Amino acid sequence: MDFFPSILTGYIETHSTAEDPVLAALNRETHLKHNLPQMVSGHQQGLLLELLSHMLQPQQILEIGTFTGYSAICLAKGLAKGGKLHTIDINNELEDITAKYYGLAGVSDRIVQYFGAAVDIIPAISGNFELVFIDADKQNYARYYDLIIDRVPVGGFILADNVLWSGRVAEAKHDKDTEALHAFNEKVQADPRVTNLLLSVRDGIMLMRKN
Ligand SMILES: C[S@@+](CC[C@H](N)C(=O)[O-])C[C@H]1O[C@@H](n2cnc3c(N)ncnc32)[C@H](O)[C@@H]1O
Repeated sequence: MDFFPSILTGYIETHSTAEDPVLAALNRETHLKHNLPQMVSGHQQGLLLELLSHMLQPQQILEIGTFTGYSAICLAKGLAKGGKLHTIDINNELEDITAKYYGLAGVSDRIVQYFGAAVDIIPAISGNFELVFIDADKQNYARYYDLIIDRVPVGGFILADNVLWSGRVAEAKHDKDTEALHAFNEKVQADPRVTNLLLSVRDGIMLMRKN
């Protein structure tokens, strides 16, 4: 999906590190075999996730919404030695493609994959998360935030994807996902526990640092 003028997208891509061939193959297979392939993070956003993860070098990352594993691979690349990425998806039909590409990317030993509803699985994972990526069902974003906020240490980061929802949040559209994402953005904005910046990358990423 194009969220930005294509002339600028092209310029950005030619002045950013080229897509890892394994991720390019995963992106292609996602587009060939899955409904809603636009859910995949893709090159630009994936590189941002990879660089942020490298900056933080976390011991433990939580991802809510694996899909075909693109963002999981990007995030896992920046883990500290011995670190783990815990990633959750409700759709267990994704297991073959995620396992295949974790192997090809050489990150299988750093990723713990869960299938089920994130609200049930998050409380069952122990420890803190220095980095959290929220990218699942939009109507539960606020719930996910409440579940993880006390488990992110001071200086840890939370990212939430699709917070612009193709601009619908700013246009105050009345559908459940738009209203939920707008309520989430307002909740974060009013929360003194985080310093937040809504990045205009792709479909909008809320970047939050725990104070
Ligand atoms: C936007 S996609 C994730 C994209 C992925 N992070 C990436 O960048 O490639 C959202 C995923 O959330 C999953 N999902 C939806 N509701 C969920 C829930 N209640 N618990 C866990 N995962 C859920 C969907 O099955 C879907 O694969």
